[in-house]
Amino acid sequence: MCGIVGYIGNNAVEEVLLDGLKNLEYRGYDSAGVALNDNGSIDVFRAEGKLNNLYDVLAGVRARVHHSGQGIGHIRWATHGGATLDNAHPHKSNDGKLALVHNGIIENFETLKAQLQQKGYHFFSQTDTETAVHLIDDEYKQCGSLEAAVIRAVNQLKGAFAFCIMHQNEPDKIIAVRKNAPLIVGLGHDENFIASDIPALVGKAEKIIYLDDNELAIVRQNDVTVKNFNGQVISKRAEPLSLEPEAISKRGYKHFMLKEINEQPDIIRGQLALRLPDVNRPVVLEGINPAVLTAGIRRVEIIACGTSLHAAAVARYVMESLCRIPVSVEAASEYIYQPHLTDAQTLVVGISQSGETADTLTALKQARAAGARILALTNREDSSIVRCADMVLPLKAGIEVSVAATKSYTAQLMSLYLLALSIAEAGKTLPAEEILSLKRELLQIPAKLEEILSNSGEIQQCALKFSSFKNFVFMARGVNLASALEGALKLKEISYINANGYAAGELKHGPIALLDEHMPVVAVLIPGSQTYDKMLSNCEEVYARKARLIAVSPVEDLRQKAMFDTVLLIPHCREIFSPLLVNIPLQLLAYYIADNLGREVDQPRNLAKSVTVE
Ligand code: G6P
Repeated sequence: MCGIVGYIGNNAVEEVLLDGLKNLEYRGYDSAGVALNDNGSIDVFRAEGKLNNLYDVLAGVRARVHHSGQGIGHIRWATHGGATLDNAHPHKSNDGKLALVHNGIIENFETLKAQLQQKGYHFFSQTDTETAVHLIDDEYKQCGSLEAAVIRAVNQLKGAFAFCIMHQNEPDKIIAVRKNAPLIVGLGHDENFIASDIPALVGKAEKIIYLDDNELAIVRQNDVTVKNFNGQVISKRAEPLSLEPEAISKRGYKHFMLKEINEQPDIIRGQLALRLPDVNRPVVLEGINPAVLTAGIRRVEIIACGTSLHAAAVARYVMESLCRIPVSVEAASEYIYQPHLTDAQTLVVGISQSGETADTLTALKQARAAGARILALTNREDSSIVRCADMVLPLKAGIEVSVAATKSYTAQLMSLYLLALSIAEAGKTLPAEEILSLKRELLQIPAKLEEILSNSGEIQQCALKFSSFKNFVFMARGVNLASALEGALKLKEISYINANGYAAGELKHGPIALLDEHMPVVAVLIPGSQTYDKMLSNCEEVYARKARLIAVSPVEDLRQKAMFDTVLLIPHCREIFSPLLVNIPLQLLAYYIADNLGREVDQPRNLAKSVTVE
């Protein structure tokens, strides 16, 4: 959701900025731009669309422009104003001396814009961002100091903003500002960096300073000073940046998504080694005592968005089954604006891969204000969600680059299974031998995931056969309803095929009207489940309407049934854990269909990985 970078140092500034933006592309790709200090004047280069277009623009000027080491850059996910060149960042002041890049939304931009227009400022874009440029410029003209102007301006802005700002008259610094949008400062040797997220700094900075909300950093080549919005100096700790460039490379895979799908067995193995080292001992959840977590708690609310919301839906089923506690699941964007019963007896679990999803953060802040205990599950232990939570359960999935979430979903599921088991153990809601048997079964999951991945040829065949269809239905029951929703989401987000997930029993109440030979139906059939026979009946109903059926199931005999066009086999496991397995063929099916269609798998149109606006 927009990525920003800044650099001040002796290295080739364009290279550093472009390299940083490349690693932030998951945050948006509507336009890209850089502002470079060219021996005393600021040059801005911008391009519509993906970062590659900006490379082309810069290639045309690189031979004749020599840039010293100060610059800022941006990739955009459009909010205010279309994805056009005029709206691309950086934006400049009318005198061309000040340049700024922004991530976030300035909510009071219309009022400020009207005031600035009255003062004679001209606007050249439809963005909210340009208001901040002219406001800072206006303040600068009055006080003559960039730092003072920024402090005065940010105190007038409402909403969410991370900025990098540079001024021609003060080439010794870049000012970085953070309020409700992520921003970090990277410290190097005789050079310093600014970025929305760590991947932009991997292999470059040695240490990182995490800015908090309402803080700004004055970043010079050999010095960084952090202040609050009152101008008082804040002492900040710099933490080592330990991530290796390898962690954000494709490692030979065609796409990050395929690499990330294939990483899942090892991620799960790693979680289990850490949290379930001995089946005869309680689950260990890094610093979380399940008795303390649930003391005085009468209900659980799980809040999330997108794929994380589907993990929450699995968790509801699992926690109610294993822990015997009422659980409700809410999309964060809905939770914020509706009456809820959250109180001090509520455990609120917030799930967010990025830890920066604005809706989830706002909802958790509300829940906390209502007195709830907050547990956050996140893949980014350095993210904002950590500051909204009383306790954090890390997902340990490693950096996920592809916009479509895959390995983080599986890591969420496994963390939630272990959390539920840990609560069940502490609360004795299940007999000890049942818990033991569940734990033993969980330990077999990594090998089963590997088995599915090593037989992906069948899934590729299936994808080839069905790539030309324009619509899909996914259906399942019980704990796998979330798998159907997630399977449909994966397919639609990366292939742009219309795909919808339904509770199989609901099909006959409307969606069945959609069925004919042009509508493939993906059905999840898990034997041993009390709804297995019902699922088979639902498949018969689908077949009777001539729709082609793709089953995901461990039952090889389904291949003998004429009604199934294709059966994607998964290993046997208890129904409660089956979403972990079902998910893999559905991820691969979506991946191969999207790839067959020539889609930009890792960067699907209109999406961003980290949605930092509400
Ligand atoms: C975006 C991403 C999705 C993700 C959702 C929630 O929409 O494209 O893949 O599931 O945000 O993200 P979070 O980081 O909070 O899990």
